Amino acid sequence: MKGLILSGGKGTRLYPLTFTSAKQLIPLSNKPVLFRVIEAIRDAGIEDIGIVIGDTGAEIKKAVGSGGRWGVKITYISQDAPLGLAHAVKISKDFLGDDRFVMFLGDNVIQGGISGLIAEFAGSAFNSQIVLTRVKEPQHYGVAELGPDGRIVRLVEKPKDPPGNLALVGIYMFDSNIFEAVDSIAPSWRGELEITDAIQWLVEKNYDVHPYVHRGWWIDTGKPHDMLEANSYVLEEMTPHIDGYVDRTSEVDARVTIEKGVEVFNSVIRGPAIIGRDTRIVNAYIGPFTSINHDCLVENAEISRSIVLENSQIRNVGRRIEDSLIGRNVVIHRSPIRPKSFKFTLGDNSVVGLLGSD
Ligand code: TTP
Repeated sequence: MKGLILSGGKGTRLYPLTFTSAKQLIPLSNKPVLFRVIEAIRDAGIEDIGIVIGDTGAEIKKAVGSGGRWGVKITYISQDAPLGLAHAVKISKDFLGDDRFVMFLGDNVIQGGISGLIAEFAGSAFNSQIVLTRVKEPQHYGVAELGPDGRIVRLVEKPKDPPGNLALVGIYMFDSNIFEAVDSIAPSWRGELEITDAIQWLVEKNYDVHPYVHRGWWIDTGKPHDMLEANSYVLEEMTPHIDGYVDRTSEVDARVTIEKGVEVFNSVIRGPAIIGRDTRIVNAYIGPFTSINHDCLVENAEISRSIVLENSQIRNVGRRIEDSLIGRNVVIHRSPIRPKSFKFTLGDNSVVGLLGSD
């Protein structure tokens, strides 16, 4: 089997963070979502992986390279414009050939990996296997309607009137019949070739499309809120370790990972949390579900349930920062008038002067 990761697209919902950089490279617990996807596919025993790239392709290539780091072989497939998930399959035909493959959206994270799913598909005669999970607001997703026998009756993309609450998770398995499907469908109202339409085509032509209902957590990291939630889940599952320096006046609890070169002075860190390499935490409080990336400084400040990307500084902030996604090279420091609360979604290279009186 082969793997196909979709890492093109625009990521408009994560602007400004993704204005200049790929959303699949935003880290959860300091590791990019895309790296987690590569690892999930590799752990399922697949070594031949294609990555579909778009405008942010150069950045993705630079971060991922040839795959040697993971013991896999990466082939890049350029998509001129984000014309839909089924379009991405179409342009990957030369890479995929006649092999069965798993397609994984490069911005999705799933609990427990995909090894079981892949083994089930590999050992079956299914033409396709789709992963479904129950969601609260099915109108925002591709939705599957199952019949009384548990088989798929139909699939609809973002239905106004959903036929159930089973949404398609961004992981799909196909054999080469999918190419006829993607060639047979027309673009949707939003101008994209929809993978749900291609799968619906397979269902209508009586191909065996098997639904698998996933029961753990799954997150499509499309929006800042999803990123923070996914970060919390991933941090909760981490095995913590301390490689940096923590002084005696600091209090660091058991579920905290402190990487090499980190210095923690006179601070309290409550896990689950991670502090990336060479970061300094001084007279600060780092609360649960926080990931601080490498080469940051948090001094005289408090932050919890947030993600801070590399080379950023948070200094002398009078109020606790919460539920925030802070980009690279950001500086947040005190300025004359203080507001009572902070909620940030900041782009790369931002500098924020906070209002405050002292
Ligand atoms: P989406 O989240 O559907 O699209 P997007 O990344 O453009 O985001 P936004 O809606 O915020 O603008 O894409 C899901 C994944 O698939 C994501 O990793 C990007 C990738 N993708 C492609 O590679 N090619 C495509 O044509 C599309 C639509 C998405």
